Amino acid sequence: MLKRTHLCGSLRPSHVGQTVVVAGWINTYRDQGRGLIFCDLRDREGLCQVVFDLEQVSQEIVTASRTLRREDVIAVKGTVRTRAGGPNPKLATGEVEVVATELEVLNKTETPPILPDEYEAEKINEETRLKYRYIDLRRPRMQSILATRSKVTKAARDYFTKNGFLEIETPLLIRSTPEGARDFIVPARLHAGKWYALPQSPQLFKQILMVAGCDRYIQICKCLRDEDPRADRQAEFTQIDLEMSFVEREDVMQMMTGFVKELWASIFSYDIGTVERMTWQHAMDRYGIDRPDTRYGLEIEDVSAIAAKTEFGVFKEALAKSRHGKNGVVRAIKVPGGAEKLTRKMTDAYSEWVKTFKAGGVPVVKLTEKGFETGIAKFLEPVKAELIAKLDLKVGDAVLFAADHWDVASKALGELRQRVARELNMIPEGKWNFLWVVDFPMFEYDDEGKRWVALHHPFTSPNPDQFGILESDPGACLSAGYDLVLNGSEIAGGSIRIHRMDVQQRVFNLIGLTDEEAKIKFGFLLDALRFGAPPHGGIAFGLDRLVMHIVGTDNIRDVIAFPKTQSGADLMTEAPGPVDQAQLDELQVKQALREKQAT
Ligand code: AMO
Repeated sequence: MLKRTHLCGSLRPSHVGQTVVVAGWINTYRDQGRGLIFCDLRDREGLCQVVFDLEQVSQEIVTASRTLRREDVIAVKGTVRTRAGGPNPKLATGEVEVVATELEVLNKTETPPILPDEYEAEKINEETRLKYRYIDLRRPRMQSILATRSKVTKAARDYFTKNGFLEIETPLLIRSTPEGARDFIVPARLHAGKWYALPQSPQLFKQILMVAGCDRYIQICKCLRDEDPRADRQAEFTQIDLEMSFVEREDVMQMMTGFVKELWASIFSYDIGTVERMTWQHAMDRYGIDRPDTRYGLEIEDVSAIAAKTEFGVFKEALAKSRHGKNGVVRAIKVPGGAEKLTRKMTDAYSEWVKTFKAGGVPVVKLTEKGFETGIAKFLEPVKAELIAKLDLKVGDAVLFAADHWDVASKALGELRQRVARELNMIPEGKWNFLWVVDFPMFEYDDEGKRWVALHHPFTSPNPDQFGILESDPGACLSAGYDLVLNGSEIAGGSIRIHRMDVQQRVFNLIGLTDEEAKIKFGFLLDALRFGAPPHGGIAFGLDRLVMHIVGTDNIRDVIAFPKTQSGADLMTEAPGPVDQAQLDELQVKQALREKQAT
């Protein structure tokens, strides 16, 4: 085989005159019938033009070059020269071409089911691209994403090892300790009737590594959660997982801020500046979500006091509601210029849509030259001046209301805020808004299960000043958790952990685990905490999400080499698939599928 000397995409004018060997896939092929054949040869690095001058090469090469087709794999020896036909500014190698003197056809392809060019990719459905992923991944865009992903993991390893973190692997076959999502489980052949689980994250192992004195840990690891995939969620995804000993919240946040700062500087030459902090309460009050996108305004205002002075039935009804000792609220978003931009059709659609978030609808009022307009204007007339002052309304603005329990109204407006911003093109391009969200509640009340559940996970410590109210007022107790948010998406989440056995036991009790149940489920952790656990805390970045931001895609499947579909299938290997009866027998597992599932 011809020995490759250069990558196709690396050729530049400085190579003119050199004899090179390039190898790759034929991206385009043109037989111009004037004794010249042109092809663009593609490899991971890019494309370069190869010319076969049929009068200058052997008959063997003439014959072989005439049968070449797109996606054949070839190697070419030749001389680099300045492009005879003038430069092609679209290609990085566009100033040069390789004039072939030798050709080796390494593998002929059958007619490919898809072609790896960007224009074609847009027209092909994603299922076909995933089935033939090895062709789809040849696209320059996908190659560049994979390269960026590799750069990010290298940057993480470089930054954290420089800061004293050890890369340590934790097991994939573990005991089932569900953290919130469903576990994937694996039968244990040597322990009939028992099961391993695949880790949802290395959470407990990394904590135990701190008890083991490892001090600072990093792992770039697969996490597996049996939940329905979404645009930014896969059942199998990757975390950059970290843990540190003898630290407080501030230390972890500073270390992690340093990482994203370095990453953005190295990839974009961009200084992310100071990363702002926001309490969870403020995020929920003003943005209706715990991961606010602060690139645009549309902040939520509470107008309950003003709404209480009106005779509008929807407001009155909401304000009369009460849950867990908290009254209902009326909240609002001002949409600058919304009087014109928000059509009746749009606001009707909003009213319908917020029902998915359990809200009743979206009352709207518009301020025009004539005053308040729309159906509810007459109810707002008596409080017009107050509302204008409170929301700083200008002629041409619209106000969208939500009236309900605080959480329902906040959630509805939080979602609406994002939709309105998208539909009215209010989200600025090229802005990176990093934000730390802190002071989360330790617990939220699960109305269905009638119990408190941990908001982060049950190993998260209360904030140092909150221990006193852990049992007396769990709903008000704030945790030492922190999330790193980028442009409205959670890219990392972590916390300072509970490092004392008695506190861990109290938290387990609070979420409804008896001492006995806690011992069965988490005995190993409680044991470890009894034998000298240092104060510790950590975080995990969602690597896939981080890369999504960096390469600018909304689709998590774009940043994973072999992703699963929305229904959790790998279309290339056709996983999940059936297994032999013999395998099941060996595992002593009996299939008893309901008819519906079996068909
Ligand atoms: P958490 O569950 O918040 O925390 O996960 C950390 C980060 O991982 C990413 N992420 C996901 N990415 C893709 N698909 C998913 N299904 C998915 N789920 C989560 C998010 C998230 O911020 N053990 C804790 C971390 C800790 O406390 O140190 C944990 O797993 O970007």
